[in-house]
Amino acid sequence: MTATLLPADASPHASPEPSRSSSGNAAIATTLALRPEVWRPLVRFREDTRWTGLLEPSLLREVLGPSLHADLAEAEVWLLSWVPGQGTALHDHGPSAGAFAVAQGALTERVVGAVRRGRRAHEVSDELGVGRVRYFGPRYVHQVRNVGAEAAVSVHVYAPRLSVMNTYRVERGRLERIGTEKAGVDW
Ligand SMILES: [Fe+2]
Repeated sequence: MTATLLPADASPHASPEPSRSSSGNAAIATTLALRPEVWRPLVRFREDTRWTGLLEPSLLREVLGPSLHADLAEAEVWLLSWVPGQGTALHDHGPSAGAFAVAQGALTERVVGAVRRGRRAHEVSDELGVGRVRYFGPRYVHQVRNVGAEAAVSVHVYAPRLSVMNTYRVERGRLERIGTEKAGVDW
């Protein structure tokens, strides 16, 4: 379900190709994640499918400092919830760069990359707790899951706005694209 709503640290592998706005995206995600009075009244949890909500830019401008307004103008900000067991497929974000920060609970991120097309993929996984942020460039491929016992909430920033995303699998050690989806379906 998608709704329109009213109102760092960065790991060395987090951004193989950071965009010029990567620090702005990370700052927006972290600032909002650490403001539960902003997101807590808005977030919903669903057992049947993950819940996502698009945050309204005009109200984000009230929350975020003026130094982030230029980055915000280029971006799209989503609030996501994850009950235990929920997660994404392995995916990228099309041409968008972005960042996400954990606001409640913990999420496990699996990042898969290949130095060159056709080369053996390498992957790392990490558990991200409250306040942890990842930022990434357009070719970033990851999978995010809640493998814990507590519901989780996260804030995601994409710039430019999400348009498409590709899904992947690792087959015989190599990253293979298996589909393309419109943004907003499952990321
Ligand atoms: Fe993602």
